[in-house]
Amino acid sequence: MNSNETNIAVVGATGAAGGTALEILLERNHPADKITLMASERSAGKKIRYGGAELTVIHATEDAFEGIDVALFAAGGYVSRRLAHKAVDKGVFVIDKGSIFRMDPSIPLVVPEVNGDDIDWHPGIVSTPNCTSTPLVMVLDALRAVAPVKAVTVATYQSTTGTGVAANEELLEQSRTVLDGGEAKPEVYPHEIAFNVLPHVDDFLDDGYTKEEHKMLRESRKILHDDELPVSATCVRVPVEVSHSESVQIEFESDVTVQEAKRVLSEYDGVIVVDDPSKNEYPMPIKATGRNEVLVGRIRKDIAHENGIALWLSCDNLRKGAALNALQIMDEAVRRDALKPASQR
Ligand SMILES: NC(=O)c1ccc[n+]([C@@H]2O[C@H](COP(=O)([O-])OP(=O)(O)OC[C@H]3O[C@@H](n4cnc5c(N)ncnc54)[C@H](OP(=O)(O)O)[C@@H]3O)[C@@H](O)[C@H]2O)c1
Repeated sequence: MNSNETNIAVVGATGAAGGTALEILLERNHPADKITLMASERSAGKKIRYGGAELTVIHATEDAFEGIDVALFAAGGYVSRRLAHKAVDKGVFVIDKGSIFRMDPSIPLVVPEVNGDDIDWHPGIVSTPNCTSTPLVMVLDALRAVAPVKAVTVATYQSTTGTGVAANEELLEQSRTVLDGGEAKPEVYPHEIAFNVLPHVDDFLDDGYTKEEHKMLRESRKILHDDELPVSATCVRVPVEVSHSESVQIEFESDVTVQEAKRVLSEYDGVIVVDDPSKNEYPMPIKATGRNEVLVGRIRKDIAHENGIALWLSCDNLRKGAALNALQIMDEAVRRDALKPASQR
């Protein structure tokens, strides 16, 4: 079987991540009759254009997974908790984009370029990381080929589609309102997002970090198989529609030159070095949007840390941060003949 022969269900097909999965499936010429779109009862019957075809959204229920080979779950934790295991019982390979399974030790959390081998032991579900963790672990994995990573400090600049369709509409609506002289009314976020930045992504925890910041720490450790790695994150929401950026400072056990860092990053699958300050060339969300690669630039010696490298990255949160990574997990599972749970192979 190759990936284009699988019957795929996109759960959350009317959302930001699910919609992007559909976009990528079309780019890959996945046959329309091998795609099932699922969402909430509210969207049942809704038509979505897929190239020359029109697909009808159905309500995501247990029975809807009959005959499905692979399901991409992008409908939030509640839906995954309710339906993912039931889908597995029906023989479906589940790739979950939400956070509920990520730290479950029985479920692999995978970025194929970094830890594709972890797919081999899946129990029917493979989880995909948070859209900020994915580009970070790719960069760290590339660089640790030069020297072991000792500590990471990262500040994120996260777009509104990272929160979903409703949040992005809020950004656009508030921007229009403010430009027209009106007053923005925050609904999705606690403060207005138009013409503002919020140092607040997900809920605050007792130690002063947010859940999103903890995700970056814990997910990086799990994917990189490095349980001790300190990752201190400050996650910030910015008024950008698509693509997250990150300012990253990495401390190594021994010296890493800028030249070495550029070399290993440019050789790494899925990473492109965009770094020519003399021409004002560096990664930006506007350049990363619609692209599959992580763009990395501003690579320089970090003068505040011994053996430190500082860099900047931008990555399409809906593609490599969500839908693309999920589809690459499917490709990798197909390639390894590992769609079935490890216990059934
Ligand atoms: N956006 C990103 O950059 C990103 C990145 C990585 C991971 N993720 C994860 O992907 C998931 C979806 O995020 P999103 O940003 O795409 O959100 P979104 O734009 O708000 O879309 C949510 C989707 O879930 C569906 N849904 C909601 N309640 C449902 C229910 N009871 N039964 C079935 N479907 C239901 C919605 O369908 P209706 O239209 O019918 O309500 C919609 O299709 C989340 O778990 C998120 O953590 C997102």
